[in-house]
Amino acid sequence: MDTETMIPSEPLRGNITVPGDKSISHRAVMFGAMAHGRTTVDGFLDGEDCRQTIKCFQNMGVHIQHDREQGKVTIESRGLEGLHVPSQWLDVGNSGTTIRLMLGILAGRPFFSVIGGDESIAKRPMARITDPLKKMGAAIYGRDDATYTPIAVNGGTKLNGIDYELPVASAQVKSALLLAGLQAEGTTTVREETRSRDHTERMLQAFGVDVNIDGHAVSITGGPSLQGRHVDIPGDISSAAFLLAAAAIVKNSHLRVSNIGVNPTRAGVLDALVAMGADITLENERLVSGEPVADIVISEKPLRGTTISGALIPRLIDELPVLAVVATQAEGQTVITDATELKYKETNRIETTVEQLRRLGANVEATEDGMVIEGPTPLSGAEVHSFNDHRIGMAFTIAGLIAKGSTTIHGSQANEISFPGFYEAVRALSTP
Ligand code: S3P
Repeated sequence: MDTETMIPSEPLRGNITVPGDKSISHRAVMFGAMAHGRTTVDGFLDGEDCRQTIKCFQNMGVHIQHDREQGKVTIESRGLEGLHVPSQWLDVGNSGTTIRLMLGILAGRPFFSVIGGDESIAKRPMARITDPLKKMGAAIYGRDDATYTPIAVNGGTKLNGIDYELPVASAQVKSALLLAGLQAEGTTTVREETRSRDHTERMLQAFGVDVNIDGHAVSITGGPSLQGRHVDIPGDISSAAFLLAAAAIVKNSHLRVSNIGVNPTRAGVLDALVAMGADITLENERLVSGEPVADIVISEKPLRGTTISGALIPRLIDELPVLAVVATQAEGQTVITDATELKYKETNRIETTVEQLRRLGANVEATEDGMVIEGPTPLSGAEVHSFNDHRIGMAFTIAGLIAKGSTTIHGSQANEISFPGFYEAVRALSTP
């Protein structure tokens, strides 16, 4: 297990890019594998999760070339019918997005498959996907009534479209149902009270599929075929968030993070930082492969507490651990609420964030659906752990840039899941 030690940082200065968007990278491979012809991808995230997605589709006979140096992927497929019965079980590693979206694809394929992953995946709830897929007619089995992995899919049963209201906003569940809906008879409508990230809807349209969006309801009618195309992937705002958070709390920082996806269903972290008083501007705003992209410029400013709740939560769900670190430096109270979903991520992120912030001396209380942080509190270096959760390891690395003394992060290699080169990037920016 790797360890990194951080000490108080100099002001962060400069111009940096971050690796490609994880959500969009997974989808580019999946949709390319479901499409007819050639799909080429630039800016692909060479992280462990996305490499696992490539392996799963290679395991089903799809021809995929990955040039890791160049960030390029080429996928040649004969459409959904080109997917073959996998000779081995499909291993998603640590990737919740891979397993959940793939369940939607596998449900409609006429073959038997088994899908699972690592210890963290084995604890994550799958019933939120398998229940509605069963309602559509899928034959799906697994521990506790297909709540936990490994999950077996006996494809080939006829799927019927459904009209389904998501109990909790989730792009993974919405996407899985739309991908099953592509292969179902009739129309599938997914409704959510607050809108989750819409990369699936945008990319399906780019691949030539009719997607009907009416407020918070998304509908798709079974039968269309996808056509291969080129996809340019922007930098991941969830990775940029760690650097933006660092620049927001390290005195006198001024940083530009270029070429970042700022899709409004993802960019809640910018709204939260601005609500806390951060000085953020977007430059060079443009649309790339159907996704809004911009350069983000941030300067350190005194911060105040805020409330992060309701419709904002799905727009920044992955950024809450690092926002909690930022909140320790804001004047007054920050309340994070309506975020029960944090309990079902790679770790229980309410527990792993609160417990370790306390170890650094922060004034924080866990609540049933979030946490309350009182600031500003000077942090003191301590031993922390990623618990193999990339976003926890990286959030506490950022805390180490302002904590007195030294902060040791055990299990630091977790950053490889979504942000390879994270430690090099932080060191390059924080040392003069
Ligand atoms: C993702 C959706 C989110 C997010 C995850 C990636 C996606 O999960 O936390 O990191 O790519 O669709 P939920 O939609 O389940 O909240």
